[in-house]
Amino acid sequence: MTERELKQNNILPQEEVEAQKAYVLQLRLENERYLEAHGKRRRVFVLTFGCQQNEADSEKLLGMAESMGYESCEEPGLADLILVNTCAIREHAELKALSIVGQYKHLKAKNPSLLIGVCGCMVTQAHRVDELKRRYPYVDFTFGTSSLHRLPQLIAEKSAKGKRLFCPEESAYLVAEGLPITRKSTYRAWVSIMYGCNNFCSYCIVPYVRGRERSREMESVVAEVRDLVAAGYRDITLLGQNVNSYGKDSGYPYDFADLLSALDQLEGDFLLRFMTSHPKDADRKLIDVMASSRHIAHQFHLPMQSGSDRILRAMNRRYDTARYLDIVSYLREKMPDVTLTSDIIVGFPGESEEDFEGTLSMLERVGFDMLYSFIYSPRKGTPAAEMEQIPTDIKGARFERLLAVQNKIATEKNQPLVGRTLRVLCDGVSKTNEALYSGRSEGNKIVFFEGSPEDTGDFVTVRIDRADAFALYGQKC
Ligand code: SAH
Ligand code: SF4
Ligand code: F3S
Repeated sequence: MTERELKQNNILPQEEVEAQKAYVLQLRLENERYLEAHGKRRRVFVLTFGCQQNEADSEKLLGMAESMGYESCEEPGLADLILVNTCAIREHAELKALSIVGQYKHLKAKNPSLLIGVCGCMVTQAHRVDELKRRYPYVDFTFGTSSLHRLPQLIAEKSAKGKRLFCPEESAYLVAEGLPITRKSTYRAWVSIMYGCNNFCSYCIVPYVRGRERSREMESVVAEVRDLVAAGYRDITLLGQNVNSYGKDSGYPYDFADLLSALDQLEGDFLLRFMTSHPKDADRKLIDVMASSRHIAHQFHLPMQSGSDRILRAMNRRYDTARYLDIVSYLREKMPDVTLTSDIIVGFPGESEEDFEGTLSMLERVGFDMLYSFIYSPRKGTPAAEMEQIPTDIKGARFERLLAVQNKIATEKNQPLVGRTLRVLCDGVSKTNEALYSGRSEGNKIVFFEGSPEDTGDFVTVRIDRADAFALYGQKC
């Protein structure tokens, strides 16, 4: 294949993007007429569940809606268009989304012209689409993760014909470049560098609802990050389910470490982060690039999932604890100040007391700064859902033990920072403690301090005088 064909393999053809632009124009005219007749714009409300990838997708949904003439609003009760961007990672995420969609029934009763669309990972599964079809008659349209770019078409067709639409998945999951993005923040940004996952960890629904891995071209990513830096963005996170395999799916002549090196050349006062890394693919080249970079934060999120080699095999993770420890020691050798975080699943099918203790002892050995821990949730269609399950009470008890161990470790990890001065990107008045401002350090730790309104969105220097398991506290200097 020529280089051009390789690229086209992955990228949504430009004609598709143009076809959607025609719907955008048509809807914009219609929404302008509405504005003239009613003296106000139609409004859109976007609700997001799930991971940063979904947050990033929602910024595109909002971007598209605004380009169609909608104005964003923060309350579903004020909206003419509601979009619920769903997650399927655990049962709880799906039940929460369904329950909220259920609450919108009364809004539709009050405002029959309200359009309700449900999209994202949950509705990329046929059984959930069927459920919405049968039990949620006030849902107007659904579209899965392969059809995000089709929002304009769905709204136009629903408005013209009135029939409910359940958009089928595309024959291929492709990268749609050039969709408008309305970012939530003016100083922190998500940049998706790849989509999908090829790993099929035995517990995980993501490969089924996000399709195979496909990477954006390096030049598109560099252009987007360059624009963000020029617009004053200070903290930019590159997103992908497994960023370490960036580029490989498309046969690009560059890999993730090359992409990071290219981005590190950009001038400006900004930090680069990335997630998520997979221990089977995280290599020394990447760590070397990080260690010698100017902009890449010394922070690494490396999901371990379990500290038992037997369970890691059953999870189809394709690394063992020895390999994991090897990466950690190289990371710390090259960056002694690196902040290390991880994901752990408790109660995977077949997890014995001994396996679980293996996880606790790995926590002690590695000493994570922070942990995202989850109780295993069976996902329909994944191999682990068919395995013999652990009773709920045992899963719950192990989860509590894990939290207690990690709290102790995180408190110990944060103590050495007392007395140090850290550069912190200020997020404004804290949502949990309104007397203080909060922000994030380079290691992505939450820092509380006495700030002022003009600090928001800027780097400030804070001397740390107290630390607990979850946060650092200090004074601006
Ligand atoms: N691609 C990333 C993140 C995937 S989802 C990775 O490979 O790490 C984020 C986390 O959710 C996973 O790391 C895992 O810890 C957790 N998770 C995924 N499926 C789950 C399930 N069925 N039950 C409980 N936790 C799950
Ligand atoms: Fe899920 Fe594994 Fe892919 Fe992560 S790497 S998204 S856990 S299948
Ligand atoms: Fe959820 Fe989909 Fe992300 S399943 S965790 S929103 S990729």
